[in-house]
Amino acid sequence: MVITAELDLERVPSHIACVMDGNGRWAQSRGLPRTEGHRAGEEALFDVVEGALDIGVEWLTVYAFSTENWRRPAAEVRFLLEFNEDILLRRRDELHERGVRIRFVGRRDRRVPKRLLGLMDDATELTRHNRRMTFTIAFNYGGRAEIVDAVRAVVDAGISADRITESTIARRLYDPEMPEPDLMIRTSGEFRTSNFLLWELAYSELYFTDTAWPDFRRGDLYEAIRAYQERERRFGRVSANGAFKASTTNGDG
Ligand code: FPP
Repeated sequence: MVITAELDLERVPSHIACVMDGNGRWAQSRGLPRTEGHRAGEEALFDVVEGALDIGVEWLTVYAFSTENWRRPAAEVRFLLEFNEDILLRRRDELHERGVRIRFVGRRDRRVPKRLLGLMDDATELTRHNRRMTFTIAFNYGGRAEIVDAVRAVVDAGISADRITESTIARRLYDPEMPEPDLMIRTSGEFRTSNFLLWELAYSELYFTDTAWPDFRRGDLYEAIRAYQERERRFGRVSANGAFKASTTNGDG
């Protein structure tokens, strides 16, 4: 298990994004209902939040509910909606006390219960001045939907085609202030991004682990960061003797 002493604390990724995958399989392999996997995933998530805070990660973004998750059995969808409300109610104050700013990305459409939208707004408002870390919850989020929504906003603004640049789109993503992730972690042995932060992950380092999300802890986070620190990030450039190791400096492709 990697401990903080093994990390270069000068080169901690400033933005880490997580696909918390494998909750259902974790539960089923134990003869439990899938929903128990989501419950167990909460402990993993908040251990990762604490671990990230301890080493100065500035942005942490997690995929809590995708635009595709509505296709799950109705009972699981209902559980996930209520579970998210429940987590917000129980965890909001402790996150606030730790200086965490809570934000959401995703579509606020009719399928998202009003009560949940209200809790999201309350959590955002309560924590808006916090600066220690921004914890972004992707809820009813899809990367393609985000790009579609950005393009709609560009059209609504009457911007002509020849004036559209990458930044025209980037400024209209759900959270234009959110920096691109340096590192994306996906658990549970799947090697896909599954429509998560499609635009933003263009130059992110991707890290996959077989560990199921409910078993993931801060030590696993540090292992992912150590792997990240071993990599070279070139952003389309050529490296000088491999000396350009992973850092938080971004650039063009
Ligand atoms: C993927 O596992 C996980 C989810 C769909 C939900 C995870 C949500 C949480 C842990 C709660 C987060 C809540 C907040 C408010 C931050 P899966 O069901 O796809 O697992 P499987 O691939 O094994 O089926």
